[in-house]
Amino acid sequence: MPESAEKQIEELREQLRYHAYQYYVLDNPDIPDAEYDRLYQKLLALEEKHPELITSDSPTQRVGSAPLAAFEQIQHQMPMLSLDNVFNEEDLYAFNQRIQDRLNSSDEIEYTAEPKLDGLAISLRYEQGKLIYAATRGDGSTGENVTQNIRTMKSVPLRLLGEGYPQVLEVRGEVFMPRAGFEKLNRLAREKGDKEFANPRNAAAGSLRQLDPEITATRPLSLYCYSTGIVEGGELADTHYEILQQLKSFGLPVCKEIKRVTGIKACLAYYEDISKRRDELPYDIDGIVYKVNSIALQKRLGFVARAPRWAIAHKFPAQEEITRIIDVDFQVGRTGAITPVARLEPVFVGGVTVSNATLHNMDEIRRKDVRIGDQVIVRRAGDVIPEVARVVPGSRKKELPEIKMLEFCPVCHSAIEQIEGEAIARCTGGLFCQAQRAQAIKHFASRKAMDIDGLGDKLVEQLVDEDLVHTPADLYKLSLEDLVALDRMAEKSAKNLLNALEASKQPTLARFIYALGIREVGETTAMNLANEFKTLEAIEQADFDQLIEVQDIGPIVAQHIVNFFQQQHNLDVIDQLLAAGIKIQDVKIADSAAQSNSVFAGKTVVITGTLPGMSRGEAKDKLLAAGAKVTGSVSAKTDFLLAGDKAGSKLSKAEKLGVRVIDEAEMLALLNE
Ligand code: IVH
Repeated sequence: MPESAEKQIEELREQLRYHAYQYYVLDNPDIPDAEYDRLYQKLLALEEKHPELITSDSPTQRVGSAPLAAFEQIQHQMPMLSLDNVFNEEDLYAFNQRIQDRLNSSDEIEYTAEPKLDGLAISLRYEQGKLIYAATRGDGSTGENVTQNIRTMKSVPLRLLGEGYPQVLEVRGEVFMPRAGFEKLNRLAREKGDKEFANPRNAAAGSLRQLDPEITATRPLSLYCYSTGIVEGGELADTHYEILQQLKSFGLPVCKEIKRVTGIKACLAYYEDISKRRDELPYDIDGIVYKVNSIALQKRLGFVARAPRWAIAHKFPAQEEITRIIDVDFQVGRTGAITPVARLEPVFVGGVTVSNATLHNMDEIRRKDVRIGDQVIVRRAGDVIPEVARVVPGSRKKELPEIKMLEFCPVCHSAIEQIEGEAIARCTGGLFCQAQRAQAIKHFASRKAMDIDGLGDKLVEQLVDEDLVHTPADLYKLSLEDLVALDRMAEKSAKNLLNALEASKQPTLARFIYALGIREVGETTAMNLANEFKTLEAIEQADFDQLIEVQDIGPIVAQHIVNFFQQQHNLDVIDQLLAAGIKIQDVKIADSAAQSNSVFAGKTVVITGTLPGMSRGEAKDKLLAAGAKVTGSVSAKTDFLLAGDKAGSKLSKAEKLGVRVIDEAEMLALLNE
């Protein structure tokens, strides 16, 4: 029944156009992608059965034509103009003044303010609502026919929606590549060993100028419309803003950031607002465009050369500039990460003068093949740290020295480690290195490490800034006078802290190892090390081969442990800690014999609520030492729930599952059995 097939086909097309409109124009999809695909497949199947019903504006006909030999030239019936630029407020005020002078008015002008999209201009010609052709701007009067490529973009309607559109409508806009799509495209290129695009604009241009539309179809291109060209057989509204709303109602995508503003002050406020949000926008923009909103006033103002008098582009400061690398230094971060930093001939970029830029790490240096003396492109986007983006192609005229990673930390002279497979090189002087001091001490004092109550992050910063504490061992040398002399430190808190320090002096071996902050040695690894080697000396002396034998320890962690204990600085700090009175508890109770005697050996225990006589951490240590496994959530596999005060959902769950519930006293009794 071809008649009903025809009807079905037309209905499906209408549905698909409507959903594309919801998605691309209103940014408000009302069906899941899978449902769209289902409708699409249904249409495809029907069209296959009835090829005579296929029309060129069907949503299935986006990729149709074969690759071209070359693009055909298209002469624009109405030239595609460019815009004059301003880079500062003064010139923007002058622009506004020229307009008021020409209009012989001192009234504030209403403008539209629009992001200046960083892509390439396109002109789309619709006749009777059907897309006839799409042409690039070219030199403004003649462009290239890229219709077959533009048709592959799902955001470009092949047929306009509704009925109210003019019979001939030329729409102008910007084709661009959203940042996420650009990153993905480059990632794929990298994986395949293909050349990457320098920025989203180049990627958009390269994608649109493909002779094979199949390739363009795979590129994530978008469109926003920002003006019209020829309009015949119908009228549009009499302000620019309303025309854009009309374009939207015809199914054409328009940037949602476009606003009406009155007077230059409001233009500047818009500029500020968008500047602040620039990095959050999903696409690149390079400024703001202000346009006189009234079409009547636009007509009175007219054009100069190739640009309208009624519009101006207020450009952002460039985010990329060329300069030269004078030298490379290495900085040590709070976690010991070593970052190569390029010293540059100062350059004005992103609105500030930049003389240092990060090179990230050695892998990046090799990938970009950056050398000292190279001419490079420096990028500063928003508040992001300036980076060396790439070498200026072809600028290296003679052999230049390669950048080499240091062997020793520039701050503490400990060895630098670079574990195979990791991009970041690190200083191994974790406990000793000044750059890592605060971080190391915070970790040392933390709850799961030495559990020094009252020694929070702020206080650690204060102690380090005041030069009272250089290594964790210095904590135990603090006196009451030292502490009360600190800002906002009452005598009571100082005394409490000294008591807490005293109380922390008898850690388990596992806690002590964990507290040292060896890279990638977490609680469990520390516990495994303690159980395996039993004494601190044995762990210090263990070699790589012994370490990788331990449960959960792989080659990377083993290497970190070896590197840590090879640094005399770290060993010195450990000695100082022991000299300060730290007494590591015996691991003997964790012997397998002791474990197998305990009722807790091999059992899974969950701890919840507040215990009357000890912290949950202490209870955990005791249970672990007795060979228990301590986990976080109650399940059918749980053997005991140790419940304190205010035990909530875990208690009810345990009761439901018939898990044995014990309190602190019972635990202690069972441990002593
Ligand atoms: S209006 C007569 N509006 O900037 C008006 N252009 O430097 C001509 N552009 O070729 C253009 N965003 O490619 C206009 N919101 C916007 C724009 C915009 C980006 C580009 C466009 C144009 C170039 C002029």
